[in-house]
Amino acid sequence: MAQEVRGVIAPGKDEPVRVETIVVPDPGPGEAVVRVQACGVCHTDLHYKQGGISDDFPFLLGHEAAGVVESVGAGVTDVAPGDFVVLNWRAVCGNCRACLRGRPWYCFDTHNAKQKMTLTDGTELSPALGIGAFAEKTLVAAGQCTKVDPAVSPAVAGLLGCGVMAGLGAAINTGDVGRGDSVAVIGCGGVGDAAIAGATLAGAAKIIAVDIDDRKLAKARTLGATHTVNSKETDPVEAVRELTGGFGADVVIEAVGRPDTYQQAFYARDLAGTVVLVGVPTPEMKLELPLLDVFGRGGALKSSWYGDCLPSRDFPVLIDLHLQGRLPLDAFVTETVRLDEVEKAFERMHHGDVLRSVVVL
Ligand SMILES: NC(=O)c1ccc[n+]([C@@H]2O[C@H](COP(=O)([O-])OP(=O)(O)OC[C@H]3O[C@@H](n4cnc5c(N)ncnc54)[C@H](O)[C@@H]3O)[C@@H](O)[C@H]2O)c1
Ligand SMILES: [Zn+2]
Ligand SMILES: [Zn+2]
Repeated sequence: MAQEVRGVIAPGKDEPVRVETIVVPDPGPGEAVVRVQACGVCHTDLHYKQGGISDDFPFLLGHEAAGVVESVGAGVTDVAPGDFVVLNWRAVCGNCRACLRGRPWYCFDTHNAKQKMTLTDGTELSPALGIGAFAEKTLVAAGQCTKVDPAVSPAVAGLLGCGVMAGLGAAINTGDVGRGDSVAVIGCGGVGDAAIAGATLAGAAKIIAVDIDDRKLAKARTLGATHTVNSKETDPVEAVRELTGGFGADVVIEAVGRPDTYQQAFYARDLAGTVVLVGVPTPEMKLELPLLDVFGRGGALKSSWYGDCLPSRDFPVLIDLHLQGRLPLDAFVTETVRLDEVEKAFERMHHGDVLRSVVVL
């Protein structure tokens, strides 16, 4: 039997979000219904509301979530009712050319639930990133559920579902930060701070946080930054070079998503170093670099999709490290809010007041 629950929808471009009754169908083959316990408020949810991602209104927002599997459809074997899971937006297919080459974190054919959740009048909803978890329950593909240790707080666990995993993975997976490396992170919001935490975990010797907001730099220190640079006041390329013996950092992570900060990342890295772009640019942005510098400086220019994470490999380990006191994921939860407070949480996010507001159900 389909169930009726409360959920937060974005009804139309730039209209305020509101709580509505959502109809959640029983899980079909390969699907699962999850009772959501917590879901972080991410910029991407705001972009959906503003019409910046697609025009498929109404959206069911929310995608950084953890909860308990309530029921599963036919053929689901990896998770069972009662499992505590973190949701991800890249359920890998196992059959595409990336999966078949043993690189499933790049999967080119990820999937979501086939059935649609609806409003009570039958209007189909578009779940944000194929999740839609600002709701008491949501329907996902079973592969979007990764079982983790239930001892962790749901508000903390859900963060791995998006931005925090993107940052951690940008350092650990894409940047391959190693013991003794010097690392610079440009842009210290949730993603950049997670990259700092990831670099700390990987054993980086020097971690330079760059931002234009002193509040963000102070927070970055608490997550492991050894040095901070306010790039409004100081040239960040010069500053990073000065702090690294005149050479530049081994790995520079760009977590803003702009051509000017990408250029800073490019020149703030040592010869043969690595640049990781985890910030997401907008379609009109262009980058111009002397091709000779691209060649002459060597190394690797990489992009990081969702931290190049493989949920089944990464989520349980990161939760275990957190529970052992080795990864301060709780530091990313600035506040917890109710389902009807998402609009207010967007405001605070817009003003840079929070790393993450988390809806707790
Ligand atoms: N690659 C992925 O899979 C993935 C996943 C989630 C988010 N993201 C992207 O990561 C980026 C950061 O996300 P977030 O949630 O941390 O955002 P955020 O707004 O919380 O943080 C951005 C930070 O950059 C700083 N900043 C802005 N302009 C700057 C400049 N010119 N120089 C230095 N710092 C500057 C801000 O002060 C802020 O601290 C976004 O582009 C987001 O879309 C990527
Ligand atoms: Zn695949
Ligand atoms: Zn997100």
